[in-house]
This record gives sequence, structure tokens and C-alpha cells, in this order.
Amino acid sequence: MALQVPSAVRICEVGPRDGFQMEKDFIPTAAKVAIIDRLSEIGLPQIQVTSFVHPKAIPQLADADEVMSRIRRKPGVRYTALVPNERGAERAIRAEVDVMELFVSVSESHCLANIRMSTDEAMEKAREVARIGEQAGVQVEIGFPTALGCPFDGFQPYERIERLVGRAVEEFGLKGVNIADTVGMANPSLVADVMSRLTNRFPDVAFSLHLHNTRGMGLANMLAGLSVGVTRFDTSVAGLGGCPFAPGASGNVASEDAVHMLEVMEISTGVSIDSLLDVARAVEQQVGHSESALLRAGTSADLPRRNRSVDASRLQASNTPKKEE
Ligand code: COA
Ligand code: ZN
Repeated sequence: MALQVPSAVRICEVGPRDGFQMEKDFIPTAAKVAIIDRLSEIGLPQIQVTSFVHPKAIPQLADADEVMSRIRRKPGVRYTALVPNERGAERAIRAEVDVMELFVSVSESHCLANIRMSTDEAMEKAREVARIGEQAGVQVEIGFPTALGCPFDGFQPYERIERLVGRAVEEFGLKGVNIADTVGMANPSLVADVMSRLTNRFPDVAFSLHLHNTRGMGLANMLAGLSVGVTRFDTSVAGLGGCPFAPGASGNVASEDAVHMLEVMEISTGVSIDSLLDVARAVEQQVGHSESALLRAGTSADLPRRNRSVDASRLQASNTPKKEE
């Protein structure tokens, strides 16, 4: 019996934000711009470019305004950025982002560590920022870090997630909601349970999933999301990522691992896997590391091609156990 999965998926590339924010050595603005420009050309429908947060909170993204102004925008690609407050909204509007992405951690402790507000205070701030975005004619969406697990407070009750999503959707009028596994604590059963309940409760909302691969369950969690009808996923080129205010956070599902899995399952992404791998190699070279199965192993279609020159019968002969002398 075939798996019940959608026929197409929308990938949001978050490497330039989630990936770069964890890099200690400052990535020169020109290098950031060059990578984002390359990502724009390979079929990705959406790129999270940067964060309009306090430069002291995330020094790596202190050049957010300049990056936004220097990238070459490809028509049809949505360029998004994180926005924590009114000041961030002003900067994002001036930078002409396509989407402002608000973020409110579901858990109290992460919310305080991340943006120095309680969850309730952050929701009030989000309401205000959503209003500013609406007035400026900029699309606004909201993400919920730690919805699927917090490094301080543990797993969050489903009712708490639903209550926060409900306020964002019904009171603030938002239609795009991202559910995040900030430190890779989720598992496929949890993802399927939470996402099936949310999509049933809010059928008109475009939900997306943000899955860190810290414990190797990223793609399994993505499959769980797909199986309950989620069609939007954040992924990060070269598998970079993490949150400096969430101890134990490490990389997102690598974009190339996700696109490869989806395409071999005949779920279309619109992304060219070979071009994506080229960009992933450039990113790996820039930052000096990566977390990506595909960068290590190549695509499954490529493996027999690469081994065409190998004489399989000789391999078999050399594999025959020798008689004991
Ligand atoms: N961009 C630039 N400067 C900002 C800003 C923003 N978005 N928000 C506030 N500031 C400035 C204010 O103008 C003020 O400057 P002043 O002292 O010269 O007047 C100063 O920062 C303090 O403002 P305040 O509102 O008290 O902010 P804060 O110090 O409580 O910090 C956040 C709150 C949200 C700005 C900060 O915690 C932050 O940026 N967090 C981001 C965390 C993050 O990105 N995490 C990873 C993603 S999940
Ligand atoms: Zn993340």
C-alpha cells in the first residue's frame, strides 16, 4: 500500500537566518548576499533572509538591513525575515520584506531567554506588530518556537499550543503559522498528533513545520507531518542552524536531504537537487562545516553513475572468503 502523502511541498530555505545565526565567525555581508542570490536561482519558493532583531542578541545578523538591500530579488520568490517587536517591524518594512515572521515561544522560559518577554507579553507585542504590518500592507505570519519541546520546560501541553495559535489566527487575523521543534526533541508520533489536531481545528491556516535534526529524527518528523497533510517545511542548506538562546540546539533538516527525499518519493518541490548541492558545498566551504547526509553521500541516482567504472565482478572475486590454510 502506498504512503498517503501530498504530491507537492513548499520548502522555505532558512539557512541564511537560522543557519548563519549560529556561526561564530562573522560571515561577510557580500558572502551572505552571494549565497542568498544563488539560493534564489534554484527553484526555492521562499527564503528566510535574516532577522531584524537586536544586533547584540544576534551579532551575526547585525547586517540585516544591508543584506536585504543588496540581494537580487527573483520574481516569484518570497523573501522573509524574523521580526521580534515594533523596532524590528519598522526595519523590515523599510527593507521591503515580503513577509514579516513574528515569533513567540510556547514555553515561558525560552520566551524569556530569547526575547526577554513572557509568552503573554510577547503575544501582546505580536498583536501590535501584526497591526503595524497590516497597516503597511506587508504580509505577516507567526512562528511558535519550542512548540514541540523546550530545553528548559520540556514538552508543552497541546492545549497551550492550540490556545496561542487560536489567538494569533482569530484575534490577530494571521493565516500563516509555523510550528517549531527548536531543539530536536520531537518524534514522529508527537508531530502527527499535534499537526493533525491543529489542521483539523484551524482548517484555513497554512501551517508549516520547522524541524531541527538534533537527534536524527528530522526527516522522520517531516514524513509524519506529510502523512497528516502538512505541505510547508523550513529546511536549512548544509543542515546549519540552532538557537543561541536554546542550549543543545543544533542544525535543521538539511535542505538537500529533504529535497532529495521528497523528489525520490515523487513529491515535487520545484528545487533542482544538483544546483542545491552546489550551493550547499559553497556554504560548507564558507563556514567550514556542515550537517548533511547528501553532502557526504551524494544522491542515490548519482551513486551507480559514479561506480560505473568499477568492475563489480572483481569486487565479488575479492570478496570471496579465502580457504583457511
Ligand atoms: N532592532 C534593533 N534595535 C532594537 C530592536 C530591534 N528589533 N529592538 C530593540 N532595539 C533597541 C532599542 O531601540 C533600544 O535601544 P536604545 O537603548 O538605544 O534605546 C534597545 O534595543 C533596548 O530595547 P528593548 O525594547 O528594551 O529591547 P531588549 O533589550 O529587551 O531586547 C529583543 C528585546 C527582542 C530586541 C532582543 O531580545 C532580541 O533581539 N532577541 C532576538 C532573539 C533571537 O533572534 N533569537 C533567535 C531566533 S528564535
Ligand atoms: Zn530553528
